[in-house]
Amino acid sequence: MFFVNLGIFLSQYWLKGQGYGKIFKDTLYLKDVRKIRTLWVLNGPNLNLLGRREPDTYGKETLAEINDELLEIAQKAGVPIEIKQTNFEGEMIQWIHTMAEDDFLIINPGAWTHYSYAIRDAIAGVKVPAIEVHLSNIHAREEFRKNSVIAPVCIGQISGLGKKSYKLALQFAMEYLTQ
Ligand code: DQA
Repeated sequence: MFFVNLGIFLSQYWLKGQGYGKIFKDTLYLKDVRKIRTLWVLNGPNLNLLGRREPDTYGKETLAEINDELLEIAQKAGVPIEIKQTNFEGEMIQWIHTMAEDDFLIINPGAWTHYSYAIRDAIAGVKVPAIEVHLSNIHAREEFRKNSVIAPVCIGQISGLGKKSYKLALQFAMEYLTQ
């Protein structure tokens, strides 16, 4: 136990040097190492097809290109960021379950936006602060896209600004996390 505490004590000093010191509480127990806040950007189904998927609606850029820009912005600001995409609802839910109230979630749930009570309940269950983003303006498209079952458990929704939807959400999230 002594060596575990010593390791945590020393790594706390290292992390302080990296700018994360203020998020540690006074205690040095292992569970508190989890307190490094993470900014998550999660993308749902079919977003891996960006670039070739309906480019008039979603743009010509690939998800990898959008992700690179987000990564660069977050890394420059020293904010830990995790960016992921999945076509499997259960996998998305598992990722959300790993989050905590002191993380932040930017989520483009894709078509799950319109019907996934399971994703909505996962966000509400872990109480992670979240922003829902969409490349297209879901309110100006087909009727079924106008309703989001996710938005009520989010701080807000940014829709229709292309990749800027992500960038504006990122800007808000970084301010939120460094408050
Ligand atoms: C989307 C809008 C959804 O309606 C659609 O199913 C998507 C992409 C968007 O980013 O505009 O997959 O979330």
